[in-house]
Formats: sequence, C-alpha cells, structure tokens
Amino acid sequence: MVVPKINLDSTADVDRIDAGGMLGILYGLPDQFLAGRKIAEQTKLAALDRKVNLIMVSGVGGSAIGGDLLRVFLGTRASLPVLVNRDYQIPRYAGKNTLMFAVSYSGNTEETLSAYGHARDRGAAVIAITSGGKLAEWAKRDGVPLIQIPGGLPPRTATGYLFISSLIALQGLGLVADTTGEVDETISLLSELRQQLAPSCPEKDNPAKQYANQAFGKIPVIYGASGTTEVVAMRWKGQVNENSKALAYFNILPELNHNEIVGTEVPPELLRQIIIFMLSNPDDHPRVKRRMELLPELLGNRVSAVVTVEARGTSQLARMFSLTYIGDYFSVYLALLYGIDPKPVHIIDTLKQRLAER
Ligand code: F6R
Repeated sequence: MVVPKINLDSTADVDRIDAGGMLGILYGLPDQFLAGRKIAEQTKLAALDRKVNLIMVSGVGGSAIGGDLLRVFLGTRASLPVLVNRDYQIPRYAGKNTLMFAVSYSGNTEETLSAYGHARDRGAAVIAITSGGKLAEWAKRDGVPLIQIPGGLPPRTATGYLFISSLIALQGLGLVADTTGEVDETISLLSELRQQLAPSCPEKDNPAKQYANQAFGKIPVIYGASGTTEVVAMRWKGQVNENSKALAYFNILPELNHNEIVGTEVPPELLRQIIIFMLSNPDDHPRVKRRMELLPELLGNRVSAVVTVEARGTSQLARMFSLTYIGDYFSVYLALLYGIDPKPVHIIDTLKQRLAER
C-alpha cells in the first residue's frame, strides 16, 4: 500500500502526522551532547582498581547503537578492544578485567538486566547508564556507578546522551585520551546541520526531505564502510524500521563487493524497488572510495537509484554524527510521507508486554 504523499514543506501536514513530535525531539541532539557531557563529568567514578583489557557495552536497540558508534570511534584511538554485547549473557572471556557499561535507556530491558547480573557475578567492573527503571534501582542497591540521564525520550533518540556518557566516563577513567575538540566540533556542526534538516528548511535545500522523497515506495538498502560508517549504515536501517515502520537493509564495504553485488540480477521487477544509499566519508580507505565510485556505474541500471550521501565536518566524530543525523531526519520524513506517526513503536511495546507475562 503506497498512500498519496504529503508535501514535506507543508507545516500543517507535517505537524498533523508527526503527532508525537519526533522532529522536535531530533532537533535536540546537539543539546544532548552538551547536557550529557555535564552529567557524565559530574558523576563521580572511583579510579579503576584493576587493569582493564576489554571494554564492553551491553544493551539492545536504541541503547546499543551508542555503543556501536563508540566502538568505531575508539577503533582508531583506544588500545583496548571494544565489544558491543546484545545478549542476555556475556561472553566467556569477559571477567574481572572487563569494564562493562550496562546501557538501557528505560532501565527495564530484560536482556540488559540479565547481562548486568552476569557481569556482576563474573566480577567485572560495571557502570550503569540509564534514565531510571530497574537498572537504576539495582545500581544504587549494588553500589555500582550510575550515570543517570534525563528520561521521557524514545530510546533511539537518546543517542547523544548515551554515546557521550560512555565516552566521558572512559576519559575520566584514563582509558581514552581527551576528545574535547572533536566533541565541540560535533556540537557546533550538528547545531548548524539541524537548520538544514529541520522542517522549516524547504525541500530544495533540505537533503533529508529529498532522500525521503526518493525512497518513498522503495526499500532502502544502505551501504557503509568498514571502520568508518558501518554503524551509521546500521543506524539508518534501524531508524527506517522504527520511525518509518518500513523494512530496510544495510551492508558494509568492502565485504559486500565480494558477495552482495552479485545478487543484483534477478528478479528485475523487485530490484527496481530497491534504492541504495551509499554513505561516503573522507576517512574511508582510498580503495573503498574507489569502490564507491564504481558502484553507481555497476548497479545504477539494476536498482532504482544509487544515491551517495557525504559526511560533513572535519573530525572523525563530527563526520560520523553528521551522517547519523541526516539518516535520523530522513527516516522521520519517510514516515511522514507514508502518513505514519514516527514516534510510537507499538509492536516492540506489545512484544515486551507479552514477554513479561511469562
Ligand atoms: C525504541 C528503541 C528500542 C529500544 C529497545 C531497548 O525507541 O529504540 O530499540 O531501545 O527496545 O530498550 P531500552 O533502550 O530502554 O533498553
């Protein structure tokens, strides 16, 4: 079912469909960095009493993606491995020398609460990041350091708070060198970028509105690059799922050049319903850049379009978050074109309720 599209420049239509106010919430992302940094800096963390050899972020959905972004960000600057654990359990090799962030925005997600229990049993150093719920209760009960961020947001829109809290905690513990310059650049870049992405900016100057119109009636497939935009591609996919209530897929270069590109021959009528977004970042490996130049040529006639989206900014962090922000707005505009309120995620809520029954 493809409904007639609204005009994204019509304030009345946009406000009517965006009943939960997602566009207003997205606008607050740079402010989350500022406020989250302050909260994390004010949270007293005792010096680590052990040598840490693994940083782990345990969470799911919107609470895990900040950990993924952290993993990629630290991949170029931390001497320790960073693992994102999306499970009830933690890996066998995680133990006393692991520092685990238990991250659940609501504080009530069963996978994260379970991983918290396992990490405590194994003697890992644990830091809880949440807006409240059982995780906050348990952390207080157990004397576990707690970074408590403001509540009331859909978890997937709290990425600024969740990312910056863990980064500042790692800096405070001396596990990551100072990143103040990059964080400052990210805040000012996102503050500028939101002017171009917000509903008040007309479609002719607003890339997120343009991408949404191009993707309307199509299945978005998002390509990122290993070590730079792989997680951002996953974020775009997740945001299309949760905000637009539509399927989307992602894959990573260069790996996809060795399998997925072959699968673009049949069935042609379905392939014409696919739109590929390639996330391009100056930090990509030079050979990956060359691959991205070749893909539109090789795939352009097989799918409906191959669209390249460029990162903005000069630092790694600003580039990562600029693409993230464009994808967030894109997915919300796509929801509005389908006549869907982007905020509620009824099927997740229903599933959680059903799981709570037994
Ligand atoms: C909803 C969302 C979900 C949740 C997930 C886990 O906006 O993004 O993916 O993040 O269901 O819940 P929390 O984040 O509360 O642990």
